[in-house]
Amino acid sequence: GAVGPEPFLKSAEAVPAIPVAGLTDDPKLWVCFYQGTWVLATVVPGIISIQRSFTPRRGDVVLASPPKSGTTWLKALAFATMARGAYPPADAGHPLLRLNPHQCVPYMERLFTAGEEGLMETLPSPRLMSTHMHHSILPTSITKNPDCKIIYICRDPKDMLVSFFHFVRKVNPNISFSDLFEAACNGTSVSGPIWDHVLGYWNASKASPETVLFLRYEDMLRDPAGNTRRLARFVGQPFSPAEEEAGVVEQIVRLCSIEKLKNLEVNNAGSYGAPFANDWYFRRGGTGDWANHMTPGMARRLDAIVEEKLSGSGLSF
Ligand code: A3P
Repeated sequence: GAVGPEPFLKSAEAVPAIPVAGLTDDPKLWVCFYQGTWVLATVVPGIISIQRSFTPRRGDVVLASPPKSGTTWLKALAFATMARGAYPPADAGHPLLRLNPHQCVPYMERLFTAGEEGLMETLPSPRLMSTHMHHSILPTSITKNPDCKIIYICRDPKDMLVSFFHFVRKVNPNISFSDLFEAACNGTSVSGPIWDHVLGYWNASKASPETVLFLRYEDMLRDPAGNTRRLARFVGQPFSPAEEEAGVVEQIVRLCSIEKLKNLEVNNAGSYGAPFANDWYFRRGGTGDWANHMTPGMARRLDAIVEEKLSGSGLSF
């Protein structure tokens, strides 16, 4: 049925929004505890609507990630790879040269919150879409569906936190890193607890490797071409010998590199519609910026918490 504001109001009563640590004056960044996960209060209506009404189409690919883990990069790579028939990556008219990657792959929570989910119907198959939801709160129409695939990306939680700090500092220059750090340790940061976010998709990828692909930002940096090939195989569009010969994989990697995207006019001007500006999504890239913001003691503390939570899973950072 139609989704009105009522379910949101009910859930909002049950889970009052609170400010992200250190961000007392901007409701855009308040979080709610929703079904065991900390989510931006502004997208709770969208999450509920996704849970109630999202019906995947055969061939849909959902890109899942916690914020600041390489979502933008994954969107660019998946889009360039899956749409390479229509848009050859070396083409001067490639959409990624004139659109921000977030315009090429819609963020489901925002679309469903805005009541714009009808846009999804206009996308050609195979569709690409993205979410920050934990695996545990995705609808079974996605998680129990052999015709709907998930590609997940995650990153060292310390670098994610530093990246998040720089991002929200654009909204509130007074933000305190140590407040955000405490929230990350307590599991209450946006999309937290981060260990549950990662474990949900990790376990799903172990149980069902043909429908959940688990990628890591650091692996992608080490071997972008190899991981792009994995992605292509996973979505059923492996690169042909002729494409390999023509260097298509390298063209995609180059097109989607931070150096390339960061310098495009589109990514330096305005906003694609999010409350955030396009250039906020491209900062430094790489690994290890945490060392410029955390003491060794802080790093050890967060590492120890994450390690303990992941113990026995076969996954570590
Ligand atoms: P830093 O802030 O550490 O530089 P998300 O896309 O999930 O919001 O994550 C943003 C992080 O990914 C930022 O990290 C950003 O610089 C980095 N990033 C964005 N585009 C990238 C790309 N094409 N290649 C590698 N990293 C990228």
